[in-house]
Amino acid sequence: MKIQVISTPMHMIQAEILLAGMFTAEELSAQPLNIEQWCGNAAIRTACTDFKAKACQTALIYPQTANVKRVLLVGLGEKDKCTLDTLRQAYGAAARAVAELGLTSLVVPIWQMRQYVPLEIAQTLVEAVILGSYTFNEHKSKASDQSLSDLELVTDSQNLAPAQQGAIAGQIIAESVCLARDLTNQPGNYLTPTMLAETAEKVAAETGLRSEVLDEAQMAELGMGAILGVAQGSEEAAKFVILEHNADKPDLPTYVVVGKGINFDSGGLQIKSADGMGAMKGDMTGAGDTLAILRCAALLKLPLHVVGLMPCTENMPDGHAYKPGDVLKSMSGQTIEIISTDAEGRLILADALTFAKRYQPKAVVDLATLTGACVIALGNSIAGLLCNNTNLTAALEKASAETGEKVWELPLEPEYEELLDSDVADMMNVGGRPAGTITAGLFLGRFTKDYPWAHLDIAGKEQTAKTAGYTIKGGTGYGVRLVTAWLRDMAESTK
Ligand code: BES
Ligand code: MN
Ligand code: ZN
Repeated sequence: MKIQVISTPMHMIQAEILLAGMFTAEELSAQPLNIEQWCGNAAIRTACTDFKAKACQTALIYPQTANVKRVLLVGLGEKDKCTLDTLRQAYGAAARAVAELGLTSLVVPIWQMRQYVPLEIAQTLVEAVILGSYTFNEHKSKASDQSLSDLELVTDSQNLAPAQQGAIAGQIIAESVCLARDLTNQPGNYLTPTMLAETAEKVAAETGLRSEVLDEAQMAELGMGAILGVAQGSEEAAKFVILEHNADKPDLPTYVVVGKGINFDSGGLQIKSADGMGAMKGDMTGAGDTLAILRCAALLKLPLHVVGLMPCTENMPDGHAYKPGDVLKSMSGQTIEIISTDAEGRLILADALTFAKRYQPKAVVDLATLTGACVIALGNSIAGLLCNNTNLTAALEKASAETGEKVWELPLEPEYEELLDSDVADMMNVGGRPAGTITAGLFLGRFTKDYPWAHLDIAGKEQTAKTAGYTIKGGTGYGVRLVTAWLRDMAESTK
């Protein structure tokens, strides 16, 4: 999308369609934008017979003026309750309405809202338009190739520079979220571990990231018996992708992002039921998010050393597949008795989290579609957060509030450690049904003793069944904005 920020006087704007935010129950004269200058009073009053400016509601007006051909009123709900995320949701829905009209360009005047600064508002509106008009048509033979291609943000000359800065960040972040969505939406027969690794290498080449892809022989050399155990049952070769931003600047503080990359999770020999198994093409979302986050780090030029680790494999049930009762030796040296071949995510993460140690990180965050139990506990809107460091918890909660990507902390309860005790190995890979998300977290915690670490269980968040606001049915890219906001905060605090 071509995005421009300009400082034209509002009454001189030219537009195919202009988006104008409105609060409920405010007199026209008290609205943030003087909408009358584009539509005339009578037209707005007529539209407002049915349009009540409820959040995400829209109404289309055809003004009788030459400059602005259409005005789309965008409901923002109550002024005092309007947050950046309300704005993102409403303008996301509006941008989609514009795309559905078949228009390719839109103009968005921006204004000062509550405590938010122009930079944040511009970033938010750009994110809204890109995310709200997202489509995934790669495999449709008859899809229209028309989509929104031009966005113009309008502000006054005083706020031009910060708005431009916000717009640039918004575009980098939102396009990275779209990349993560694409990867989740991509069918498993296209996005094999090899293809995911190739995509990562391509993105790395485009953005200046350092990339390295380990094959199974190299993983064996490192002793990564846990990921290789999972990979045994698949015809597709496993890949371990390493991405690095600022690899050549060892003095910068190091942060590691790890993402679960199960390209397809059949459950292995303990095969999942047929219902909804297709959704398990999205079980690589943690890895896709990680690639998208590293893309952000590079393009935002964060003054940090950021490492992305993406262990990638399918979990399949063939004659070579790992079996219940097997014992795997992880890279850490700890041995694991397999209770369920469907608890594969924690196995591949165990080796990746052990590998993370070599970077002596300030903190490690992993993203993983890890447990169905997390969906039962928190539903489809909130990710589980498990963390061994209170400062890191607080920093992630702050980033969550900033981005509207919700998290809720669950405890790493020491009393539950014994649920992982095994008769034959150092631990079992499953601790039973009760507190399934917590025991999965405790399992990972055995591989993260050497650094501050947080685990985001994003099961159920990686895909959504309905289109609303800036989220589109299918892959959500959940977590990319959250972790990127956290990294930006870390960069800010080390300045
Ligand atoms: N990939 C699944 C978890 C999942 C569930 C992701 C729903 C997205 C939506 C994971 O590998 C899995 O199968 N977990 C098992 C663990 C159990 C065997 C301890 C589960 O949650 O049932
Ligand atoms: Mn599984
Ligand atoms: Zn899985």
